[in-house]
Amino acid sequence: MTEKVVLAFSGGLGTIASLQLLKHRFGPNVITFTANLGQKSSTANLCRRALELGACSAHIADLRERFARDYIYPAVRAGAVYSSGYALAHALARPLIVSELVKIAREEGAAYIAHGCAGKSNDQVRFEVSAAALAPDLRVLSPLRENNLLRFDEVVRYCQDQGLPSTVSNDTRFSITQNLYGSSVQWDRAPDAYADVPEGVYRMTRRLSETPDDPGQVTLRFQGGIPVALDGVEKSPVTLLEELAEVAGRHGVGRLTTIEDRLIGFKMLEVYEQPAATVLHAARSGLERMVLPQATLEWLSVPAQRYARLTYEGFWFSELREALDAFFVKSSEYVTGEVRLRLFKGQCQVIGVRSEHSLYSQALAAPTTEGDAFAHSGLRGFMDTLRQSVQQPRAQDP
Ligand code: ARG
Repeated sequence: MTEKVVLAFSGGLGTIASLQLLKHRFGPNVITFTANLGQKSSTANLCRRALELGACSAHIADLRERFARDYIYPAVRAGAVYSSGYALAHALARPLIVSELVKIAREEGAAYIAHGCAGKSNDQVRFEVSAAALAPDLRVLSPLRENNLLRFDEVVRYCQDQGLPSTVSNDTRFSITQNLYGSSVQWDRAPDAYADVPEGVYRMTRRLSETPDDPGQVTLRFQGGIPVALDGVEKSPVTLLEELAEVAGRHGVGRLTTIEDRLIGFKMLEVYEQPAATVLHAARSGLERMVLPQATLEWLSVPAQRYARLTYEGFWFSELREALDAFFVKSSEYVTGEVRLRLFKGQCQVIGVRSEHSLYSQALAAPTTEGDAFAHSGLRGFMDTLRQSVQQPRAQDP
């Protein structure tokens, strides 16, 4: 039986080189898969590209709705932000891509799936861990790693030697990966962490000097921790994310330059744009402060961090992630309401919150006699108890 492989093909240099390498081994039996995750490049063009480069068939799928509904929104509900401030746009997309690769491999009778990630990327881990969880019987290939094309210049040289139409010109300093939820930059050399980031890397957000001089405002409605409406209009997840990214980006909201701990053990300067994510997390967190008891609020940061970390590390398809989602469904039961936010010169600020489940009582908070419902009479006893606990002698006199 002829062996077949399904390669995740983004059209990036690593995937072009990988396709070529796989042709050496699988001949005409290399199938590609390209996902539309809201990046700006046309998937139809990428599909044509794959066929020109020798793929026997090139699958495409519009995964935006699933990405938004089943990956991004649960991460929003969980407050999942990695320790660097990264809202996980790419980490969330990888398991979805793998689930689709597995599906195509089953349909096509392929025993192998492959990715074009290079040497030090987190994504290679996410691909391989996700595949192992979903389809332990499938073999995962990493053509670049297996052929010792571990560094960017080695991949470029290989493409040149093979006469492959490479997208890289000599003055390329970076490439951008973008999806619905954010963009990130890959550099062709290790960036200086003290230097300015070149303005040309930004795709989704305006520079401050070009943002409007009047503040913008958005209203988000959440239901059970999930965004459901923007400015009073119910929107599908994809539309909401796209429109929110547009307005936030116009005000320069969502740029992040950070030093991140990669999961294979080194620090990297990362440059992200995450306009929609920045607003959504600010809004959800503002709403939570109104509707959740203090004990829940304090505790939430623990599972949120764990959720972010397991997503970053590629363990999306795990019992822990499912269990945490069940937890967040429960803890977000009352995270329903509206949040008004101001967007101005790169900043996003919560300016108003209201909820049918509010725990904020104006009667309890009232500073005047009128309408005050606070039980002042209980305060004396409360103070006595506190004073006693502070003044407690360390040892009893004999
Ligand atoms: N540091 C980010 C992450 O690990 C960026 C990944 C970018 N991925 C890509 N294929 N360009 O998720």
